[in-house]
Amino acid sequence: MSQTHAPTKAVIPAAGLGTRFLPATKAMPKEMLAVIDTPAIEFVVREAADAGLDDVLLITSRTKKSIEDHFDAVPDLEAALAAKGDTAKVDLVRASSNIATVHSVRQQNPAGLGHAVLCAAQHVGNEPFAVLLGDDLIDERDKLLREMLDVQGQFGGSVIALMEVDPAQSHLYGCAAVTPTDRDGVVRVNDLVEKPAPGTAPSNYAVIGRYVLDPAVFDVLRETPPGKGNEIQLTDALLTLANLPAEQGGTVYGVVFTGRRYDTGDKLGYLQAVVQLASEREDLGPAFTGWLREFSAGLPQA
Ligand code: UTP
Repeated sequence: MSQTHAPTKAVIPAAGLGTRFLPATKAMPKEMLAVIDTPAIEFVVREAADAGLDDVLLITSRTKKSIEDHFDAVPDLEAALAAKGDTAKVDLVRASSNIATVHSVRQQNPAGLGHAVLCAAQHVGNEPFAVLLGDDLIDERDKLLREMLDVQGQFGGSVIALMEVDPAQSHLYGCAAVTPTDRDGVVRVNDLVEKPAPGTAPSNYAVIGRYVLDPAVFDVLRETPPGKGNEIQLTDALLTLANLPAEQGGTVYGVVFTGRRYDTGDKLGYLQAVVQLASEREDLGPAFTGWLREFSAGLPQA
């Protein structure tokens, strides 16, 4: 069980193979796919920093060096732009190096999300911490992580994010069985199933990519055998935590999220993120939405 510190660290697993986005991800991390002009993972690092977690640990792998580079400084590029007097672009280049203190550790083989989180054990120590999936975008106007940190402060234990999904989609997610608490939008998690077979999900509440975890999760993960897909599943470890007594770091709560989320590791989710965010950008929105209206008017009726 954790000492009583509020979380200060965020862990961003980004070592997965990204097979849903092949062939783009053959030689390039899916987390570096540009959402307009910004790699998806930059939004995630910003979200952590905005919630007050400016110590960020990236879980990467041999093929993900460009992610580490993106958060580093590039003195020669900055010097070349400065020599041309292009201070706006110097600021753009510098912005991603100054969001947070970014560390990285490598997951030597992609043995699953649970295994990736376990790679953070030494860096995190004995404090509660947040996990944000590197391809899962939460709109910056929806302060989900802040609310989860607040719920963890009030209830203790671990906190996961849940979103109601169409039952036909449940088999793509981890799903939770829940009971209400006395706080609106917050539930107690009693059961969790990773990617349930169609028709067997315990509810329509799907687990999405934000977690605030008690460090007891590390000992649980060390004992968690490979599950679905022969991977060490974070969902399996969370179910063990949900059934542990509070004094051993157990109990899991869920914050029910009703805001905007984009799964940029999925082709459709990626396209939705680009279209939605481009429509809302001050510089691009007016021209883009003008074109989009014309384009959609010409589409055949569904
Ligand atoms: P995903 O299942 O979305 O990632 O894992 P994936 O395995 O890369 O995706 P597909 O299904 O093959 O397209 C959720 C998050 O966990 C990370 C991924 O990088 C992603 O951010 N992950 C997954 C790891 O860091 N290591 C792993 O072994 C597996």
